[in-house]
Amino acid sequence: MGKRKSDEDNDSRASKSKSADESNPYLAHLNVQKLPKMTPRKTTAEDAEKYEAAPTNLFNGRPFSQKYRDIMVKRRLLPVHKQRSEFLELVQNNQILILVGETGSGKTTQIPQFLLYDDMPQRSGMQIACTQPRRVAAMSVAKRVADELDVVLGEEVGYSIRFEDCTSSRTVLKYCTDGMLLREAMNDPLLSRYSGIILDEAHERTLQTDILMGLLKEVCRKRSDLRLIVMSATLDAGKFQSYFDDAPLLVVPGRTFPVDIFYTPEPERDYLEAAIRTVLQIHTCEDPGDILVFLTGEEEIEDACRKISGEINHLISAQPDHVGDLKVVPLYSTLPPQMQQKIFEDAPPPRKKGGPPGRKVVVSTNIAETSLTIDGIVYVIDPGFSKQKVYNPRIRVESLLVSPISKASAQQRAGRAGRTRPGKCFRLYTEKAFKNDLQEQTYPEILRCNLGSVVLQLKKLGIDDLVHFDFMDAPAPETLMRALELLNFLGALNDDIELTDIGVIMAEFPLDPQLAKALISSPSHTCSNEILTIVAMLSVPNAFIRPNDQRKQADEAKAQFNHPDSDHLTLLNAYHEYKEHGSDAQWCFANYLNARTLKSADNVREQLKRLMERHNIPLVSTDFNDKQYWNNIRHALASGFFMQVAHLERNGHYLTAKDNQVVQLHPSCNLETKPEWVLYNEFVLTQKNYIRTVSEVKPDWLLEISPDYYDMKRFPDCEGKRALERIAAKIASKKKDKKGK
Ligand SMILES: Nc1ncnc2c1ncn2[C@@H]1O[C@H](COP(=O)(O)OP(=O)(O)OP(=O)(O)O)[C@@H](O)[C@H]1O
Ligand SMILES: [Mg+2]
Repeated sequence: MGKRKSDEDNDSRASKSKSADESNPYLAHLNVQKLPKMTPRKTTAEDAEKYEAAPTNLFNGRPFSQKYRDIMVKRRLLPVHKQRSEFLELVQNNQILILVGETGSGKTTQIPQFLLYDDMPQRSGMQIACTQPRRVAAMSVAKRVADELDVVLGEEVGYSIRFEDCTSSRTVLKYCTDGMLLREAMNDPLLSRYSGIILDEAHERTLQTDILMGLLKEVCRKRSDLRLIVMSATLDAGKFQSYFDDAPLLVVPGRTFPVDIFYTPEPERDYLEAAIRTVLQIHTCEDPGDILVFLTGEEEIEDACRKISGEINHLISAQPDHVGDLKVVPLYSTLPPQMQQKIFEDAPPPRKKGGPPGRKVVVSTNIAETSLTIDGIVYVIDPGFSKQKVYNPRIRVESLLVSPISKASAQQRAGRAGRTRPGKCFRLYTEKAFKNDLQEQTYPEILRCNLGSVVLQLKKLGIDDLVHFDFMDAPAPETLMRALELLNFLGALNDDIELTDIGVIMAEFPLDPQLAKALISSPSHTCSNEILTIVAMLSVPNAFIRPNDQRKQADEAKAQFNHPDSDHLTLLNAYHEYKEHGSDAQWCFANYLNARTLKSADNVREQLKRLMERHNIPLVSTDFNDKQYWNNIRHALASGFFMQVAHLERNGHYLTAKDNQVVQLHPSCNLETKPEWVLYNEFVLTQKNYIRTVSEVKPDWLLEISPDYYDMKRFPDCEGKRALERIAAKIASKKKDKKGK
């Protein structure tokens, strides 16, 4: 009945408007017979708009909904819409286009659709891809565009992020992370399934986008049918144009809604405290509208959320008639996806009719800095910092350091407001600091990160001469050397820097090379089932929940799964118990485990298992009652992580093997003793150097796994070296004895 009613509505509106302006695109669906014939890559904006206004959807043949038509009205007001003809002319006459348009002008949502109607990739069974540096953006933009095109997410419009493919055989437009597209290139170096590729947010200069740019430049030379668009709100257009052989530039001026920028008159001493104070001020003094605050990391964000909630409760109890409710929502990359979705929930309503309105405040890392539209955000608070990767090739440590953001980042942050209504951005630094102290653009990631994974991928892509690869900014030779050295020690590259058979398989796994190596080596230690679980658990956010007001209970719950000398085995135990209890969410809740995270670990495990089967890597386990059960697992882990090992010195500190960095066990480690040798999953640099997720290892395993890496001639003098020498001597004399006998 409901549908009938809306048809009637349409009909009555139609008859009333028959005499209205016939050129009105919203009414073109009334003139079915007038739909033009479209020849791919020769379409005009007017023709495409007629299809968009037709009664049925070109992509799935279903009638368009009223919601579609409502959104269409807003889409036609976006700044990029005015330049649809100009855009089409440029892409029809040039293979590569650089596009710069204000935040919120409609780049990410509209440009792929413009290309879609011009390309009609469905006719040739091809697709259009639009990359995003962040998963949360790829997912949310795909959802929005599925709504805009009136299709079901995952059908004609989908997304693909690591371990989650929400696309189907019908998909013609795919949003994906840059990393996923790079991975696809490994098996299809010409990216032949795509007729058009859009590299979005290119200003972020992520490692993957930079590599993709180099690859695509080459692919474009080989495939004249491929079209490439590189876009952002804040990129250095000249640099990109000259990199892409003087590709033309399309500039889209104009914002959807204005954003007023406010600076602090004096520098703030404590940005966290200032950010919290600003949230409270906005909530008590400013007009309705939600708030987005940028902070630097999980701990800081959780701390800020707690403090904001505490302060608000005080204010509400003191002035219930004047202060509305405030819903505080954290956002950071390790938060499980369904928790991340909370940022899109509505603000709370007034507590009583006519009372002060409620508000939502999202406290986020820079994962919300680009691309996202969070409907309702009016105020942005930008303290001017983010955590940025830095890599020190000398000691092989990659870490995240809180550093000032760039002007481009500040502009992106402000651009999260003003999308669905006018906005305000409060910068918690002075205008002078903005002008004089912030660098223009974010420093490219390729210049400040470990390249192990990416070099393996490039090798798999057949790029042999890495030194002469066409990087927009070439990485430091020392960093490249370190990556080659790592892959050589792991056995992925031989001494001639060629990919080995193992290297080929390692590259297939969407994992760090160390994890991939541990997984591939695990059958020879009769524990591939277990390593597979550990790898899956390490690939999802932390499954252990530790609420601040229930730390003791949470720690007691975790102790049930504890393995006395291995955090990795604690993860394995937790997963086994979860399966033992039928993956029961209730049981997880009672045991302070995140059921959704464990479910997603299960899903990751299943995907990796399929990859193992494809490469004939057997799934085996040691008998649980066998004395070697636990040792075998740690031994297999060591075959991937023998370069991430630390030795306990007599002074009680750990020293990393070969690099001699003083480190401590991270407070989250659950080891009951301090073993002499440990391997670690992660080096965390805060005020102190920590190693996180740690397991005891036997030194003789290290010598056996990589005699090259543990070649004492190239080992700096330290207690660890002397201990290893003693063990090596023991092993040698045992061997001699055996021979003698
Ligand atoms: N989920 C959404 N809900 C409501 N409106 C939306 C949504 N997504 C996009 N919009 C509207 O579409 C406009 C264009 O969004 P789009 O993401 O295409 O902009 P953009 O040019 O890519 O911006 P940016 O440079 O910030 O990535 C927004 O300003 C907003 O008005
Ligand atoms: Mg965008």
